[in-house]
Amino acid sequence: MIGKAREGDPVTVTGLGCHVPERVLANEELARLVDTSDEWIVTRTGIRERRIAAPEEALSDIALPACRRALADAGVEGADLDLIIVATVTPDMAFPASAALLADVLGASKAAAYDLSAGCTGFMYALAQAYGMVAAGLVEKALVVGGDVLSKILDWDDRSTLILFGDGAGAVVLERSRSGGGFLGFELGAEGAGGVHLWLPGSGSRAFDESEKHVKMNGREVFKFATRVLVSSAEQVLAECGRTVEDVDLYVPHQANVRIIDHATRKLGIPEEKVVINVDRYGNTSSGSIPLALADAAGDGRLRPGQLVLMTGMGAGLTWGSALIEWTEEVGSA
Ligand code: ACO
Repeated sequence: MIGKAREGDPVTVTGLGCHVPERVLANEELARLVDTSDEWIVTRTGIRERRIAAPEEALSDIALPACRRALADAGVEGADLDLIIVATVTPDMAFPASAALLADVLGASKAAAYDLSAGCTGFMYALAQAYGMVAAGLVEKALVVGGDVLSKILDWDDRSTLILFGDGAGAVVLERSRSGGGFLGFELGAEGAGGVHLWLPGSGSRAFDESEKHVKMNGREVFKFATRVLVSSAEQVLAECGRTVEDVDLYVPHQANVRIIDHATRKLGIPEEKVVINVDRYGNTSSGSIPLALADAAGDGRLRPGQLVLMTGMGAGLTWGSALIEWTEEVGSA
């Protein structure tokens, strides 16, 4: 799917917030659990530490503070929301949706609320959906949440996946723009044939052995896929919107691995100083990764109104998605 924003209907981000669990898990500590080392993890992934949810914490607990920050940042009350989409592969439970649980706590009694599953690309898919509903006039105020607690579904004996992931969430409020700017276009896609390269057997209605029920990943295949689609999706959305790589002020890629990001950045020709990287501190937080990176960039002054921001996610499905936005929001609360 590819498309650019309709003329005269600017839709933008008016609030931004994020939240991560308190517990920091550094590489050195992981090296005491499985056969790995800080040096191996840093060299292959760029990750130094990640946040891990407490046993009693579920996705909605991690997402709630992010939602509250985004709403406060936008000056929007929960009761004013028309829509809440939570992009996640680790909802509190299969149903009710975590979005409905959050709507209840936020007092969003008139909001439609549902979860969306598109792996680590979930936040990009959710942004595109919310954009469409706001642009069409169905919705005035939407809350888009991206978050995951992958620590709950990992095999803690499998060093090949354990080292990569962390927990965290981010949220944005979408509304019509009062000052121009806003989303310029989206490109989203899926290749189901590659789904087996990153999957969670036994998490749905298909039967698997008990022993299989953890995240399984073919790292090399995912690496090849990621480096390919990060480039092709970015190029396509830029072309669709009549922009070039030179026009991009800030590049916010999915935070999976520094090597993947470096590869895409080099291929696209985006200078290092325009690239947001925080995978070293959070690992791969799946759907939380892009909003967490946005909040980081807003917090340290790199994300400013008027900038052209390119975001690209990719992940399980296999899926990918890009959005191009002219940023209008003053300061996001990190
Ligand atoms: N510590 C030490 N050694 C390890 C570890 C570890 N944690 N994990 C694997 N190894 C070993 C392997 O067993 C292998 O040993 P061998 O040569 O004796 O067989 C060796 O290291 C090399 O393994 P590779 O898998 O070839 O290592 P590679 O350089 O491909 O790096 C990695 C692995 C980091 C997983 C890489 O493939 C990668 O980043 N892939 C993408 C993964 C990803 O980003 N997934 C999520 C994206 S989508 C989403 O966000 C949900």
